[in-house]
Amino acid sequence: MNNDIINFIRELYHSNDFIQLHRPIFSEIDKSFVLDAINSSYVSSVGKYVDEFEERMSTYIGSKHAIAVVNGTSALHIALHLAGVKKNDLVITQALSFVATANSIKYLDAYPVFLDINKSTHGLCHLELEQYLKDNARISKNGTFHKLTGQRISACVPMHTFGFPTKIDKIIDICNNYGIHVVEDAAESLGSEYFGKKTGSFGLLGIFSFNGNKTITCGGGGIIVTDDSKLAAEAKYITTQAKVPHKWDYVHDKIGYNYRLPNLNAALACAQLNQLEEILENKRETAYRYSNFFKSIGVTFLSELENTKSNYWLNSIVFNDEASRNKFLKESNESGVMTRPSWRLLNKLKMFSDCLKGSLINSNLLETRLVNIPSGYRYK
Ligand SMILES: Cc1ncc(COP(=O)(O)O)c(C=O)c1O
Repeated sequence: MNNDIINFIRELYHSNDFIQLHRPIFSEIDKSFVLDAINSSYVSSVGKYVDEFEERMSTYIGSKHAIAVVNGTSALHIALHLAGVKKNDLVITQALSFVATANSIKYLDAYPVFLDINKSTHGLCHLELEQYLKDNARISKNGTFHKLTGQRISACVPMHTFGFPTKIDKIIDICNNYGIHVVEDAAESLGSEYFGKKTGSFGLLGIFSFNGNKTITCGGGGIIVTDDSKLAAEAKYITTQAKVPHKWDYVHDKIGYNYRLPNLNAALACAQLNQLEEILENKRETAYRYSNFFKSIGVTFLSELENTKSNYWLNSIVFNDEASRNKFLKESNESGVMTRPSWRLLNKLKMFSDCLKGSLINSNLLETRLVNIPSGYRYK
């Protein structure tokens, strides 16, 4: 069976050479935009492409504001700060995610609480979230606190895993009942929709990544989106060294960050945005072909749920046991078809091993059985 899968991937990508998991694509448009930024001499944090990228992203996502930053990790860091996460707080998130989700919580000296994921979306499970809060949270006039540790539970970070929208409306409803702010980690889900609304636009704040392995890229880049004008203004301020606006004076009135996206990267981001719809269409067709193939050989392939649209950033298959998963990983990688296991669960990384956690039943299962398969743009 492994050979059948490997051969199918080779056929799909018309290639006998090394096939990457997600190779970025660049066109003449990309080069001309980057060259234009160089010729303008505005290559750092000020320039027309930064403004254009923000405007286009807020329109595309359907959020009132978008603030461009250097990467998705810094976007998460600032979004959590703006959501009011403070030292020693608890922030609920999922165990199955990229390390940046949990690192950004620790940047604020807060602690992640790792809950399980939903089997059909691979995102934070709203049922476990509801139960966890029922069992462990105490609401008082000063906020929501953990009954055992006494720590404030200030935010929740659901992640739209591999581009599949998690059941975000349910998560927001639950968090609203407890006065917990939602920061959507939509790093992987640019273009994905939940009941016709773009992921990233549901929470108090949402973030995206434009890293080289994402659906579109600007080398490194991120964006924070929000409908809250005050938070948006603060996001821009704090990511540009908290400089008090003045024509020549250098006055900074708080500790700020040098997190603003350079114009050079923003130029590439704008050019890539022009190609986003075509890339998404291309990836949908790849997912459709994968889906039919895996159905025919009886392998579980994750597809989007009704009323949701995945950007199919990374396609994944799930094996029946760890041994067959490992055999496939070995054989595919040895034959030049890049495949990857799921991330090691965050609660198992040594920096987070003491953190609170939920049942993690689905997370533990997927950790040993899931494989991401090549999902990048396919030339026909
Ligand atoms: C779920 C998730 N969150 C955050 C990030 C961080 O984004 P970046 O690499 O742009 O810092 C990534 C990706 O890289 C991610 O996959």
